[in-house]
Amino acid sequence: MSPTLPLLLRTTLLTMFLLGWNLLHADLYRYPQTFVSDDGKYIASWGVDGDVLRMKLEAQGTGWIGVGFTNFIVGNAMDASDIAVFNGTITEHDYWANGFQIDPDSFYAGDSNSVQDAFRAEATKTVVEFHRPLTASDPGIDVDLRSPCYLVWAFHETEDELTWHGMNRGHSHMMIDFSAAGPVFLDLVTHQFQPNNTVLLEWQSGAPGTHYTIDFSDDLEDWNPLTGFESMLATSAVVPLPEENRYFLRVRPVAPDL
Ligand code: HEM
Repeated sequence: MSPTLPLLLRTTLLTMFLLGWNLLHADLYRYPQTFVSDDGKYIASWGVDGDVLRMKLEAQGTGWIGVGFTNFIVGNAMDASDIAVFNGTITEHDYWANGFQIDPDSFYAGDSNSVQDAFRAEATKTVVEFHRPLTASDPGIDVDLRSPCYLVWAFHETEDELTWHGMNRGHSHMMIDFSAAGPVFLDLVTHQFQPNNTVLLEWQSGAPGTHYTIDFSDDLEDWNPLTGFESMLATSAVVPLPEENRYFLRVRPVAPDL
């Protein structure tokens, strides 16, 4: 038998393994920061990639899903928000909210800057990935994400058509600097809500022997954990949710071989 054959086979298997590994863990590098709504039905994760913000949105619903950015909140949180909306079929995702009126940027003769990268509709859940520039290419109807913003969010449980979301809406209490990497973040892979007010977290194992801590905070800028956990070697944990209604979450690698 030719001695090169096993080598070729080994190289192919190794390449396939590495490809699979990268696919599995792409999320955690791309979307290291997370916002979770009070009821856990909506999760936004994001990361900065050069001059682009990459975001992943997940909602417990099968209708449209959206996220928005605004520099100020006076009264109604959706007013004056630069919003991205997805429903699996629309191609123009960039919207501007004027009061409760929401129109695509083209209505104001602007460009659509939010680009859908992936859309997945499951039986009871919708997942979308998109990216958009940090900068505001249409001033007045685009928010510059290099300035601190509030995150506003909404989704519809069943309707693809952009109609009132009902109670499935909200905003972050804290301003977020989307352009910054933020505190050391997350090796988080999955984030699933469980009975008894707990959440199952799974993350990637870093360097061999890396220990992790899990914290919840109510402030992304001034990171002050609400809860801290003993550092651990495992790559998953079921942890109680904090009593606070809205929070940010991080799983932080502490040190290898602690
Ligand atoms: C045709 C589409 C929409 C209509 C008719 C609409 C209508 C409304 C109305 C009437 C309210 C006030 C009542 C309430 O609080 O529910 C509201 C609030 C709100 N909407 Fe919308 N909306 C639309 C789309 C969106 C989208 C796409 C987003 C974000 C992605 C959004 C985010 C919000 C937020 C954050 C609030 C206020 C909640 C808070 O203060 O935290 N809305 N909307």
